[in-house]
Amino acid sequence: MKKATTRAMLGVGALLLAITTLAGCSNGADAGTGSGGGGGDASKAKIGLLLPDSVTARYASADRPLFTAEVKKQCSGCSVVYANADGDASKQLQQAQSMLTQGVKVLVLDPFDGEAAASIVQQAKAKKVPVISYDRLIDSPDLSYYISFDNEKVGELQGEALVKALKAKNVPSGSGIIMVNGSPTDNNATQFKAGAHKAIDDSGYKVLAEYDTPGWDPAKAQDWAAGQISKLGADKITGVYAANDDTGGGVIAALKSAGVSELPPVTGQDASLAGIQRILSGEQYMTVYKAFKPEASKAADLAIQFAKGDTPKGDTTTKTAGGASVQSTLLDPVAVTTANVQDTVIKDELYTVKQVCTSQYASACSKNGIE
Ligand code: BGC
Repeated sequence: MKKATTRAMLGVGALLLAITTLAGCSNGADAGTGSGGGGGDASKAKIGLLLPDSVTARYASADRPLFTAEVKKQCSGCSVVYANADGDASKQLQQAQSMLTQGVKVLVLDPFDGEAAASIVQQAKAKKVPVISYDRLIDSPDLSYYISFDNEKVGELQGEALVKALKAKNVPSGSGIIMVNGSPTDNNATQFKAGAHKAIDDSGYKVLAEYDTPGWDPAKAQDWAAGQISKLGADKITGVYAANDDTGGGVIAALKSAGVSELPPVTGQDASLAGIQRILSGEQYMTVYKAFKPEASKAADLAIQFAKGDTPKGDTTTKTAGGASVQSTLLDPVAVTTANVQDTVIKDELYTVKQVCTSQYASACSKNGIE
């Protein structure tokens, strides 16, 4: 994609409520309690949280619980209405419409499709509901805020780490890399890819083939990688750029089922639990840790401010593909290898040692000093 809204009679009220509840259910928008939007009491605001897919670990394990906890911490009477689009832009539109009908005061929207989601922003605007673009940029002139990471830097960290790993293994210049990028409907994926190419293109290593994974689906990444392994020969694949841990896991599974015992360096992103365990056991070379807590907490904090009618300003601005300038906060990503698992995800309590070091990973943990 390119870079880049007195009940007149008891009977009527009951009917409306029934329709609203029904709409919420059929679209998977999970209503909490609290009063409706449109100028009601901000201390009882409903805040909509829309996340893009269910194939990536972070949304259920980090974003949703962290966001909800911060909303509750700052505003005990507020409630979060949650929906996941399951990789379907039209489902996300319906979920957003259902939330607007339920009277949310703010939408925090991580779009499945950054261009298509502009119509959600437009519909929200018509109801005076501000939209915070969460993690992925929406190509709309009507956004109220964008909170994310420096996403081109994510790609640079991945590409640089891959090149470094290949050089450290003395892999000769001219050897091949395959690239498993993110979803073509995700502006972040475009930026990750651009950042990675910056590091890889002049490295002397050659990109043999690359793939934009529809919906970031790990199963599709795995199928594509299996096809490349048969086509190119496993020994020709000396390095793998995978845009996140889940798709990287798919590639690793394909390599293992093709009988590859010494895996090439594979990159990732999100510091997922499975990704961190693979790093410790030597199956995955690196991941990019994007501290989800500051991202989700900041989004919750912004949502509450907007619900109160404030208009918070960012530390910076971001340009959408359409040329609009959006108030933004962009956080810093960090590359993680065996060398700094302890000082990043363990130190920040993203995971406990017990969660990471299950019996299967106990020796990998002790070898890498995880305690
Ligand atoms: C996010 C990544 C995530 C990917 C797949 C990207 O927009 O920034 O953290 O792994 O989407 O959902």
